[in-house]
Amino acid sequence: MDNRPIGVFDSGFGGISVLASAASALPEERFVYLGDNLHAPYGAHTEDEIMNYSRACARYLIASDCKAIVIACNTATSVAAAALREEIDMPIIAMEPALKPASMIESDGLVLVLATEVTLKLDKFKQLMDNYGKDAVPIPAPKLVEAIEAGLWEGARVRALLHEYLAPHLHKPVKAVVLGCTHYVFLKQALRKYLPAHILLIDGNEGTARQLKTRLRQENLLGGAGGADITTRVMFHSTKNDAKTLKRMQALFDLALNQLPDNQA
Ligand code: DGL
Repeated sequence: MDNRPIGVFDSGFGGISVLASAASALPEERFVYLGDNLHAPYGAHTEDEIMNYSRACARYLIASDCKAIVIACNTATSVAAAALREEIDMPIIAMEPALKPASMIESDGLVLVLATEVTLKLDKFKQLMDNYGKDAVPIPAPKLVEAIEAGLWEGARVRALLHEYLAPHLHKPVKAVVLGCTHYVFLKQALRKYLPAHILLIDGNEGTARQLKTRLRQENLLGGAGGADITTRVMFHSTKNDAKTLKRMQALFDLALNQLPDNQA
């Protein structure tokens, strides 16, 4: 049994939605979350900068005695996952827009894929589109990351942004919207209000939590935190490291826990 924590990082608040899925799916594990809020949004940076930021986040989690690292960020995954796996001798779990499950939805209609420009332009996503993108429409949505980082996950500003990004595609039949950026999971309630009820919202968080559990079991790294209360099993850190940011992390963690599908709560 290995009681060291699991490290989770993202460019800012987005990865907290993945953390909620993982901490719920793995009640015997402790977690250290690092939000690189100082450099968010990653989508506004060069690939070299994103690589350097991702390396720094990984180093921070290794120094926090973590036994595995979850890159809870599609953008950082696209740029840095392969290199980090080469450089770091521990399980590195990464993410991708959930295009495969969306493509398997039986009904007719488009799959709108919201993500950052960096995620959409790199090879990893191009490969996904080749394999599962028959009905997919990639939609870069950088301003949604900025809204979440500014503490907005509902209200007029968010509604206006959703309309800006989605309205041009809603005159055609749409079967699903893929939340291809971990920040966007916090917009589920706003998206639900904005979109017709038949359109499904698909994200990769549950799949990432399952993949983490499988890797820990394979590497004999499962822990035994004794099912301690979820709030005591999770530590929040931010490169901004101020009280307001850390308080917002806790609020978003609570929101994410409340948004978990019933089978995950
Ligand atoms: N959460 C990150 C993702 O999943 C957002 C990237 C950004 O900071 O632009 O891509």
